[in-house]
Amino acid sequence: MKFVKELKRTEYSGNLRAQHVGQKVVLMGWVNTRRDHGSLVFIDLRDREGLVQVVLDPNKSDTASAKDFRSEYVVAIEGVVRARPDGMKNSKLATGEVEVEATRCEILNTAATVPFQIDDENVNEMLRLKYRYLDLRSPRLQHNLILRHRVARLVREFLSGNGFLEVETPILFKSTPEGARDYLVPSRVNPGNFYALPQSPQILKQLLMVSGYDRYFQIARCFRDEDLRADRQPEFSQIDMEMSFIDVEDILDLNERMLRHIWKEIKGIDVPKLQRMTYFEAMNRYGSDKPDTRFAMEIVDLSEVAQGSGFKVFDDALSRGGIVRGLNIPSGGTFSRGQFDKLTDLAKKNGAKGLVWMKQDADGTINSPASKFVSQEKLKAMFTQLGCTAADCALVVADDFDPACSALSALRLHMGRELKLIDTSKYNFLWVVDFPLLEYSPDDKRWVSRHHPFTSPTDEFFEDMINNNEKAYPKMLAKAYDLVCNGYEMGGGSIRIYRNEIQQAIFRLLGMSEEDIQAKFGFFVDALKYGTPPHGGIAWGMDRLVMLLAQTDAIREVIAFPKTAKATDLMSDAPSPVHRDQLVEVGVRLSAQAEKALEENNK
Ligand code: AMO
Ligand code: AMP
Repeated sequence: MKFVKELKRTEYSGNLRAQHVGQKVVLMGWVNTRRDHGSLVFIDLRDREGLVQVVLDPNKSDTASAKDFRSEYVVAIEGVVRARPDGMKNSKLATGEVEVEATRCEILNTAATVPFQIDDENVNEMLRLKYRYLDLRSPRLQHNLILRHRVARLVREFLSGNGFLEVETPILFKSTPEGARDYLVPSRVNPGNFYALPQSPQILKQLLMVSGYDRYFQIARCFRDEDLRADRQPEFSQIDMEMSFIDVEDILDLNERMLRHIWKEIKGIDVPKLQRMTYFEAMNRYGSDKPDTRFAMEIVDLSEVAQGSGFKVFDDALSRGGIVRGLNIPSGGTFSRGQFDKLTDLAKKNGAKGLVWMKQDADGTINSPASKFVSQEKLKAMFTQLGCTAADCALVVADDFDPACSALSALRLHMGRELKLIDTSKYNFLWVVDFPLLEYSPDDKRWVSRHHPFTSPTDEFFEDMINNNEKAYPKMLAKAYDLVCNGYEMGGGSIRIYRNEIQQAIFRLLGMSEEDIQAKFGFFVDALKYGTPPHGGIAWGMDRLVMLLAQTDAIREVIAFPKTAKATDLMSDAPSPVHRDQLVEVGVRLSAQAEKALEENNK
């Protein structure tokens, strides 16, 4: 490797611009494409910043090795930057004004034939994940990872500038309370005992407040064994923070300033003051606690008109304390039976028992599967209340509050996308506030925390809480807030309980026995006794934040080595079986079921 010893790289290929014309440069990178014209070889040389065209004359001895260049070979080029002749400029390429005329070149390493062309956008994702290190060479992922780095840096600078200390917290720890399933790690040294990987640093950051660290942050790894979706990974990162001696306003203000800073620096956008919406307003208007407010199509309550319709579906829902609500789908009057069937399936998949659609026939009658049961007069009244005209259609759901909201929200988002009502270049942020503190779990027949059990109720419920006043439970509000952007929950947090008697009352209300409390959070409850300051915090989903900035809707696109929807890593084949001896060492024996599954897999 004469070249590398003698010469050092002077520039990234992707950074060359017209201003470099005339300069002698040394580039090192990968051969993206090669076009051999016999007397001249053209290559696109790629590195992490992008690619530039290099022209080599294989007939000159110093550039003769260009004949042997192949895709993904690692090469070094010495040359001079020159302007491309008119007509040869490439406006699609950042370096398209220039090219490099090579004076020397050397192959630093060869490459096996790659399973796909790096910049081919149509490669199956499974294959790309298996060869993630190759996909990471693509401009798309280079851009996303560089963006992620810039965001991390902005966050660190901003928070450090606001008096925050970055403190690391352990990964091998005890179960933390975010409500997902834990990933467990067996202990060899303490047979029969397990660590749990943290679902978030929640308890630890609160302990740091007890310790007096006042303003903490961390870009923290979190682990949750839950069903995965496009915006969820089993391990992900949070921009996690906690502050003492503050109230809700201080946290919202600081985070809004951080949000503005990030969007200004990365996107050049001035984010206006954030709108605030209560949880119930969000549910009533959009059917979701993370509403996509980039388009209207708001939900309309029809409970009053639907009252006494004689239609079992409506009457049952209303008499159970449920709701009848609907959406006006602009220009939906042309939808076919097939389309309505698909929408009905979507409503059902999202928890509703069915869907009533309505459209107006040419003679003015309302056409609907409910017309057998509901009078034309009532149907028309509902149609009108939704603001539908003859061109539109109505979608109506009758059900309990939660399933009806979730079905309507799914229909709204689906139709918003289908009808292209969403301006995807836009960012709409809002705070959702005043969440209910508790929700009733019909399965477990008990109350559970909506956020986590350290979330403070609003002040007016302290007494009810301490007195275990069950009647107040459904009404109790939390000092909790979510940061929502374009229909994504980008972050969430709360003011914490810092008085021990309220924390104990919450645990009691959640049905935790004294032993449960001691076993799970005993150390934490103890800590609260030793002078805990009032405190609160928030965590942003770092991956979701970068995903939004990168304008992609797949979280995998902003993570260097992501997992699939089945929580596997296709590149390394993790998770994978381990040697029996290792299991013995950590005191774990596989169940018959696991043995059988392994055998099946090995077939
Ligand atoms: P929460 O559970 O709401 O709060 O998480 C905070 C933010 O983390 C992101 N997030 C995820 N991102 C990717 N994959 C996942 N599986 C995933 N789960 C959550 C979301 C979410 O808004 N300890 C509290 C915060 C606090 O109270 O301070 C917590 O973890 O963007
Ligand atoms: P059924 O009485 O089940 O034949 O339903 C009559 C119509 O009402 C069908 O179009 C169903 O899809 C619709 N439907 C059933 N349950 C609901 C519901 N909970 N909300 C809205 N429409 C429903």
